[in-house]
Amino acid sequence: MAEANRDQIEFWSTTQGRKWLRLEDRIERMMTPFTEAGLAALGDIAGKHCLDIGCGAAGTTLALADAAGDAGSAAGIDVSPPLLKRAWERADGRNNMCFAEGDAQDYAFRDDTFDILFSRFGIMFFRDTPAALANLRRASRPDARLVFIVWREPRDNPWVMIPVSAAKAFVELPPRPAPGEPSQFQWADPGLATGWLEGAGWRDCRFDPLDIALDMPGEPLEAARFLLQMGPAAALLAEAGGDLAERAETALAEKLVPHLRDGAVTLGSACWIVSAQAG
Ligand SMILES: C[S@@+](CC[C@H](N)C(=O)[O-])C[C@H]1O[C@@H](n2cnc3c(N)ncnc32)[C@H](O)[C@@H]1O
Repeated sequence: MAEANRDQIEFWSTTQGRKWLRLEDRIERMMTPFTEAGLAALGDIAGKHCLDIGCGAAGTTLALADAAGDAGSAAGIDVSPPLLKRAWERADGRNNMCFAEGDAQDYAFRDDTFDILFSRFGIMFFRDTPAALANLRRASRPDARLVFIVWREPRDNPWVMIPVSAAKAFVELPPRPAPGEPSQFQWADPGLATGWLEGAGWRDCRFDPLDIALDMPGEPLEAARFLLQMGPAAALLAEAGGDLAERAETALAEKLVPHLRDGAVTLGSACWIVSAQAG
């Protein structure tokens, strides 16, 4: 595995992977509209061989396998053993799915294998994204399509920024990674990202905006707890100990009250659906 991605591999194999599994049901419900939008962007993929990049617990790999049908297949790659264990459990009994543990940046895929390369938020953590895109291109058939969903700028994502602004009053958050660094917002700038894609042999690159209002089930306090666990403050609040996490949750819950719609906290989110063609 690429030495460069060691931090992310460690993060997703331990704390973040375990947290993701603990919150799996809620996350999967929240992510369903993104899966639907991604599949709509792919169109008919019956009979196609698909790769799910950073597949996690296989929420989207299952959807790809269903859409590809028995004549097609879906393979997932991820660096996180606990998430892959869950992925294998969910795939039990399906004969058109498999998973590999590895770093998509340098995994030794067979050349010319995939018709469809897809990712829902699993392609944002490479230290060397151009190298990862070239590796994925090598694994693609000549007419392959790459489609993935990534976040736009933080300012367009109140579901991230409102919790961050509440948490800041209690813990010192790490500085935002520079543009292009591995992070949730690595792909926010289409100008920078188009250069990466084209340099790695992908053409006809498109960045289509996808705006989805995220419903957080439960009362504002429950939503606050969920959002703080998901975000960058989680480990810092837990380490700080005492009642800091509870105070941060209460402060965030107050900020969420104005966002209550029909009994659910609803916050805006903004993504790109990026698509490109092997070329
Ligand atoms: C935000 S999660 C998304 C998981 C999944 N795509 C989903 O939507 O449920 C990011 C995923 O990317 C994986 N990941 C991070 N760096 C990776 C790498 N270099 N190669 C493969 N997977 C990676 C993580 O382990 C994690 O499962």
